[in-house]
Amino acid sequence: MDRNEGWMRWLALAAPLLMVGAGSALARDSEPNGQDGPLEQCLACHRPGNPAAAVPLITGQNEGYLRNQLRAFRERHREGFPMPAFTVDLDDRAVSAYAARISALPWAPGGDPVGSELALAAGAEAAERHDCASCHGPAFLGADEIPRLAGQNRAYLVRQLRDFAREGRHHPPVGTGARMYHLDEGEVGAIATWLASLRPDTDHELSP
Ligand code: HEC
Ligand code: HEC
Repeated sequence: MDRNEGWMRWLALAAPLLMVGAGSALARDSEPNGQDGPLEQCLACHRPGNPAAAVPLITGQNEGYLRNQLRAFRERHREGFPMPAFTVDLDDRAVSAYAARISALPWAPGGDPVGSELALAAGAEAAERHDCASCHGPAFLGADEIPRLAGQNRAYLVRQLRDFAREGRHHPPVGTGARMYHLDEGEVGAIATWLASLRPDTDHELSP
């Protein structure tokens, strides 16, 4: 599926929400103790195990990271279609409430990991060489403002790594000081396959 086809599918999914003015409706109902409706709207796309291409797993993602992303979408510091439309009317309180509620849900990667042994080994090797774990943690569960990557949707990871490489999205310099744009396409694919294959429950959970 090419990028445009993917976006058309998102548009079809998002249209009913956008037509009712999703942003303001979500802002209104997003109190921490408010109705669950708006969160369900988010999870219609972001539900764990959603096989749709390139939609990230967000439940159980680290709170500070979620907060930063929702703000970045709202302020157009991160494009990430279709998210700007869902965040445009959220105030800081609503953003924090979403981040808290979503991060309290379980991080539950869906589906069986796929990837040849060769790709998995190449991904592990590239992640090691670039010292990705120095920030994302030994089990790639991140912390606070640093995202979890273990078990994240592979197609989504590929798109983010490409965006970092072409500087469409900011990423700090990697552990070795190399910029993300030094990752070539082979490394992007292998790292994404390997990260998507990690399962926090069966691998070691980070102790707090
Ligand atoms: C129509 C489908 C759809 C809906 C509804 C939706 N999202 Fe998203 N969301 C996406 C897609 C696709 C991306 C990936 C964008 C990109 O590639 O940068 C995304 C990205 C995100 C991210 C960034 C995740 C990361 O790992 O960086 C967060 C956080 C997020 N959405 C939260 C929400 C919240 C909160 C709501 C409800 C207010 C919501 N989303 C509603 C499709 C959706
Ligand atoms: C210096 C610390 C640091 C290192 C080293 C690092 N990262 Fe990150 N990474 C971050 C931070 C911080 C963010 C969140 C950026 C933001 O807020 O948008 C991030 C975001 C990401 C994301 C986006 C996740 C999402 O849900 O959208 C991916 C993918 C990623 N990093 C992969 C890597 C890979 C692969 C490496 C090694 C090549 C690496 N990172 C090395 C700090 C680091």
